[in-house]
Amino acid sequence: MTPSPTTQETTSSSGLTFPSSQGSMFGEYFTPGRSWNFGKSGLLDARARRVFENTALACSADAYPFHMPLQAKAGPNVIADGHPMLMMSSYDYLGLIGDPRIEQAAVEAVRHYGTSTSGARLLTGSLDIHRRMEADLAGYKGTEDALTFSSGYMANLGAIYGLFGPGDRVIIDEYCHRSLHDACRMTGVQVQRFRHNDANSARAELQRPNTANRTVIISDGVFSMDGDICCLPDLVALKQEFGCFLLIDEAHASGVLGATGCGTDEHFGIPTDAVDIWTGSLAKSIPSSGGFVAVSQEVAIFLQHASSPYIFSAAMTAASVAAISTGLAILRQEPERVARLRRNGDFLREGLQALGYDTGLSETAVIPVLLHDEVRTALFARRLRDFGIIAAPVMFPAVSQGLARLRLCVTAAHTREDLEVVLEAFRKLAAD
Ligand SMILES: Cc1ncc(COP(=O)(O)O)c(C=O)c1O
Repeated sequence: MTPSPTTQETTSSSGLTFPSSQGSMFGEYFTPGRSWNFGKSGLLDARARRVFENTALACSADAYPFHMPLQAKAGPNVIADGHPMLMMSSYDYLGLIGDPRIEQAAVEAVRHYGTSTSGARLLTGSLDIHRRMEADLAGYKGTEDALTFSSGYMANLGAIYGLFGPGDRVIIDEYCHRSLHDACRMTGVQVQRFRHNDANSARAELQRPNTANRTVIISDGVFSMDGDICCLPDLVALKQEFGCFLLIDEAHASGVLGATGCGTDEHFGIPTDAVDIWTGSLAKSIPSSGGFVAVSQEVAIFLQHASSPYIFSAAMTAASVAAISTGLAILRQEPERVARLRRNGDFLREGLQALGYDTGLSETAVIPVLLHDEVRTALFARRLRDFGIIAAPVMFPAVSQGLARLRLCVTAAHTREDLEVVLEAFRKLAAD
């Protein structure tokens, strides 16, 4: 069911058609006129001021944009605050949330294995289906082996912290996902950032004198905030020229790029083994939770015995494992989902551009609408909500100051009618 922007629900006392309960999660905390004192000695220091002031401002305008509690399944059509809404910021790229085959596999796995593994993989938490699922993942990505973690964030930490150390050096795209930057910081490697998707800048960083034992170039396959594709052929050439390693995070490329959704290597026609370490999330195109590292068998064996997030954290639940294997099987059987996703992305992006919106660098299912100013972005999201549309605002520190945006994500499950509803709302809001 698609909520129509012209449907007039009962208008709230705020004058807004779809009142939001989100601000009420703080109770009476943000009453107007309240001020805060964050001293150096307190648990919360001056950094908290910005959070509190912005949250208070958003709550007073009934426009607090975060923590929206969905009341049923995610997917293109959701229920929030009792209203059917069109979800335009979900990572469910292949439209597989709610697929009965995946749900049935997860339910059967819970019945057979229970709700928790209650142990880490190395000791008591491994199930027979973990290794089968990891073989499925390796088969999907075309690597010798794969290992899994509780999230994509942990997979990045597990790979970088497991393989590198303070004597090593990372050359990383400045727009890489926070999990990659955090992993580098925690590992204590020497970090050199290069300008976004700029191979000449990466080369300049590689040429800097250094005493590192090993160097690894790191990039997202598809950039999470901008929806552009990394310059993989150039990065592979640099890796070969400088004799270093290459790690690519496929969180937003898996199921999205390439004719069969195998990712950035398939998109460019580059052999999978040109990249040493592939990582990714299992909570986007594959509708489960977890993350993967796809590598050679040797590297996998080492990480299975040396990667902290793999060893010192409970193993993924059986329901998640079953959802991954079934999701991968569906991707194999139904590549038309990937083509539909691409058509939907092109339709929405071109429609927004025709209305005069700036969609930045986007060329995939992630479509930012750059509004620059944070308050404008939050209010725009609020007004879209009155059209029955959920669009996530993204602000500093997720993006640089002055680059605030709505981040739209299309999925294969959106209908043409859904996307026309979105474009009509943007058309009306452009005129204001
Ligand atoms: C590029 C990238 N890597 C890793 C992650 C983390 O994945 P997860 O949500 O599974 O922890 C994300 C999350 O959005 C991401 O965008």
